[in-house]
Amino acid sequence: MHVLHVVGARPNFMKAAPVLRALSPHANVRQTLVHTGQHYDAAMSDVFFKQLEMPEPDVNLEVGSDTHAQQTARIMMAIEPVLLDRKPDLVLVYGDVNSTVAAALVCSKLGIKVGHVEAGLRSGDRTMPEEINRLLTDQISDLLFTPSADGDENLLHEGIDPSRIHCVGNVMIDTLVRLLPTAEKHFPADIRLPFALVTLHRPSNVDDLPWLQKLLSSLADLSTQLTIIFPVHPRTRQRLNELTSSSAMNTPLRLLDPLPYLEFLALQQRAAVVITDSGGIQEETTFLGVPCLTVRENTERPVTIEKGTNRLVGRDLRQLRSAVQEILETRGKRGESPTKSNVPFWDGHAAERIAQIIVRRSAGK
Ligand code: UD1
Repeated sequence: MHVLHVVGARPNFMKAAPVLRALSPHANVRQTLVHTGQHYDAAMSDVFFKQLEMPEPDVNLEVGSDTHAQQTARIMMAIEPVLLDRKPDLVLVYGDVNSTVAAALVCSKLGIKVGHVEAGLRSGDRTMPEEINRLLTDQISDLLFTPSADGDENLLHEGIDPSRIHCVGNVMIDTLVRLLPTAEKHFPADIRLPFALVTLHRPSNVDDLPWLQKLLSSLADLSTQLTIIFPVHPRTRQRLNELTSSSAMNTPLRLLDPLPYLEFLALQQRAAVVITDSGGIQEETTFLGVPCLTVRENTERPVTIEKGTNRLVGRDLRQLRSAVQEILETRGKRGESPTKSNVPFWDGHAAERIAQIIVRRSAGK
């Protein structure tokens, strides 16, 4: 059996790495890795391949950045001949980025089976590009691998045949479990405790410059109480450069370049609080038992709110400030039990379950 994996953007890499590893002992499975090149900077891509010990991609489509339509179309045009040439039996796509939906759509037109890893997540917010990518990818995928039970419910609600749905758990947590012992050695030496770790890259936060400016001022206010460590995504860096006011640059925040996986994980583990708009970080902090404040009105990962340490603060800066205060005073929301038992199947073995399902299917069982 020939399995072709498609990755493109930073959050795909930690999800694909464990699946590649889990399939590799199976002698009857041949694997091909295609990188679309959606993310191409060394700090957004190469260093992740190295730290996650992923094989070099067999093919790099080098599509780079563009508008959504151009980027998605370029991925589709570039991947079609690769799929025709390599003739995989199954294509695995990951998460909710443009590379995910573009590859899935081309496969469905070519009659190639698609498996979606991290299926079924829904924020209910169709203004998010990722929500459209999730909805469409799930509709056209043959195998839907969900990270938690809410994913199954969402898919059933959308009329998806239950035989396509497999609740396997969270592959990103597989990577975290494997690399956490290594990550501890990567804690940057020059960080003063206590600190808040901040990441912001959603268009809804960073493309709205007046809002971004207010958010930065609130973070600057917090920096009298704790160090603010802010590794800056390239999209956010561009917006900071566009802010005409010099206040963003004369900031007390520690603005860093995007960090490698291990350094970032080490920081998450020791942070007093994480302030973010990322999806994956909501899950990682829940697993680690670290308080997380999500600067969004909604989340496609409700389990991190119901069982974990995550809290939505929306666009309410007073709520953000008071939540940080509460966390500093009381350590905040603890989560039920911030361990792998917190959510069923967030146990470091999700990719093995995916591999078993694929191998069983290829044997016609
Ligand atoms: C993409 C995903 C988002 C994910 C995020 C993680 C989609 C729709 N969005 O958003 O779900 O959370 O990745 O990072 O797929 N850039 C660089 N170097 C790079 C990559 C990007 O400089 O290696 C810059 C480019 O100027 C680009 C901008 O960042 O225009 C945004 O990149 P893009 O891939 O379009 O989307 P992200 O915001 O990264």
